Amino acid sequence: MDNKGPYNAMITSVGHYVPDRVIDNRYFEQYLDTSDEWIRTRTGISERRRLDKSKPTSFMAIKAIEKLLQNRGIGIEEIDLIIVASVTPDMIYPSTACIIQKEMGAVNAWGFDLLAACSGFIFSLTTAMQFIQAGSHRKIIVVGADKMSAITNFEDRNTCILFGDAAGAVLLEPTEDKSIGIIDAIMKIDGEGGKYLHQLGGGSLNPATHETVDKRMHFVYQEGKNVFKDAVKGMADVSYEIMKKNNLTGEQISYLVPHQANMRIISACAERMGLSEDKVMINIHRYGNTTSATIPTCISEYWHAGKVKKDDYLVLSSFGAGYTWGSILVKWAY
Ligand code: COA
Repeated sequence: MDNKGPYNAMITSVGHYVPDRVIDNRYFEQYLDTSDEWIRTRTGISERRRLDKSKPTSFMAIKAIEKLLQNRGIGIEEIDLIIVASVTPDMIYPSTACIIQKEMGAVNAWGFDLLAACSGFIFSLTTAMQFIQAGSHRKIIVVGADKMSAITNFEDRNTCILFGDAAGAVLLEPTEDKSIGIIDAIMKIDGEGGKYLHQLGGGSLNPATHETVDKRMHFVYQEGKNVFKDAVKGMADVSYEIMKKNNLTGEQISYLVPHQANMRIISACAERMGLSEDKVMINIHRYGNTTSATIPTCISEYWHAGKVKKDDYLVLSSFGAGYTWGSILVKWAY
């Protein structure tokens, strides 16, 4: 995406939160026809986190934002805009952004929720980038947060082993240095993919009734094999595209930050880009697929471990329901 504005948008702080409760693969062995071995070899997942039933998505988002503010040494009143990526908002409305704004006392911020499933974080970051590049906003929080346990059918072995709960947040600020921060973004959608991955109940087409509940329409539905095939191609192609478009080679990329849906999809993407495994941010084995939270939790964990350095090139890539997919190229600024 061409930047015609006076600024580049750079990430200046990161934070994340995962619930304490660990659900390992053996938990599912106890009541489903599955095994730790099947789950690990087919997905790369060993365990995932589950948030307490009584707590909503905003609880995790707020914890992630608090860490981000602490790292940057600023107060919430300095924030202009809060964008929340989620498929599990606290409720249909008001938006989770409004709930966070009230709970945290973000008196100078406006905000909204953005729904792009597993690509929610990169779509939100691309949206936030525009406000920074144009010069109209100076401090934007983008938070990816999902309580997937709220929309998971724990009787369905095809999906329940995949998902976890988490939140990750980044702070975006302007810089006049056009060579750092977010360098490029390529976003795509294809509604043809909707039939393979969706949640049919609860919207205006199928409002909640006894029937929609009985038919399990308020849970994630996925035809894994079809999504797998399309995700491998979509994510690998767009990651390669952004690298080539910006005249970079695999050697110049410090990290691929892929959406964490399946280790085999991640490996195929890294291979296409010519990246060795040590250049791929991974936390799928510990957290599973946390939808909007996978990419920011990865970045936050690696940054806090001292593994991300100024001037590192990061390629953030995702693929999810919609279909939605894309890549963002970042030259790390701090
Ligand atoms: N334990 C044991 N067996 C299981 C299982 C489980 N938890 N889940 C499915 N199976 C079975 C299936 O029923 C099927 O059995 P069958 O051949 O008798 O019908 C068999 O394993 C193979 O199923 P399949 O769907 O072909 O497995 P897969 O190798 O494609 O792996 C996924 C399934 C879901 C892990 C994989 O398809 C996937 O990751 N899909 C994409 C996810 C994604 O990227 N989503 C987008 C973003 S959210």
